Amino acid sequence: MTNDGDVHHAASAMRRGLVALRRAGRQWLHGAASRMRGVLALRADAREASGRLAVPAGNAILRDGTVVQVRAVRPDDTEKLRVAFERLSARSVYRRFLHPVKALSPEVLRRITDLDFHDRVGLVMTVGVGAGERLVAEARFVRDAPDSERAEFAIVVADDYQNRGAATLLLQELVAIARSRGIRELCAHVLEDNTDMLDVIRRSGLPSTQSREDGVVRIVSRIGRTSPGR
Ligand SMILES: CC(C)(COP(=O)(O)OP(=O)(O)OC[C@H]1O[C@@H](n2cnc3c(N)ncnc32)[C@H](O)[C@@H]1OP(=O)(O)O)[C@@H](O)C(=O)NCCC(=O)NCCS
Repeated sequence: MTNDGDVHHAASAMRRGLVALRRAGRQWLHGAASRMRGVLALRADAREASGRLAVPAGNAILRDGTVVQVRAVRPDDTEKLRVAFERLSARSVYRRFLHPVKALSPEVLRRITDLDFHDRVGLVMTVGVGAGERLVAEARFVRDAPDSERAEFAIVVADDYQNRGAATLLLQELVAIARSRGIRELCAHVLEDNTDMLDVIRRSGLPSTQSREDGVVRIVSRIGRTSPGR
């Protein structure tokens, strides 16, 4: 598949995934992130321990009216991520990892939460607060190599939160963050029968190319600001 259409079209197409938004702070980030403020509120005071500018954090409302929060993955999310994984259907696990996975090992959990928000970025979508907080979706990208302009991304949404626009929103956020960090291409490996994910990427309007191998579609989406094809 090759979609022609520029990234501005892509951004507006992805915006349709949300019904509304709530602003979550009084100060707003500028630059690439500010272009997305119609979608997700950003808190300027949010910074990672590393000192790097944190990813956006804020509230949003999904298509069915559910209020969710989107924030950066934190090191102390390990247990909540484990619980979220355990709730996933075998089908969703298979589609996310492209093979069966029984449980997330401590090593995998450590890697998922070990992020520098430059080469490795992770977002969670949550509902509830404090001890009642539940992670209902996770999205991440990892650069192919340190400072590379290409990164691989993946998204998983809890089965009972699917089809509400969560992945559409998270992909939009990943794209905004990746752009702000100089990434020009986002790549995904999707099972060829995973029409849900293929549709999410297609609907994003990002100019993309696909290749297939052993039942897996590799999609490379250009997210840079230059014209598609350059
Ligand atoms: C693939 C996956 C991430 C999609 O997540 P999701 O939150 O359900 O996706 P969205 O809700 O944003 O979009 C999917 C549905 O919403 C619909 N939708 C999304 N945005 C829409 C919009 N703006 N207007 C109308 N419909 C819309 C889509 O048509 C689709 O519905 P359909 O399949 O009935 O046609 C999720 O199914 C999942 O976690 N699967 C298991 C893991 C996985 O496959 N990950 C991908 C590996 S990279």
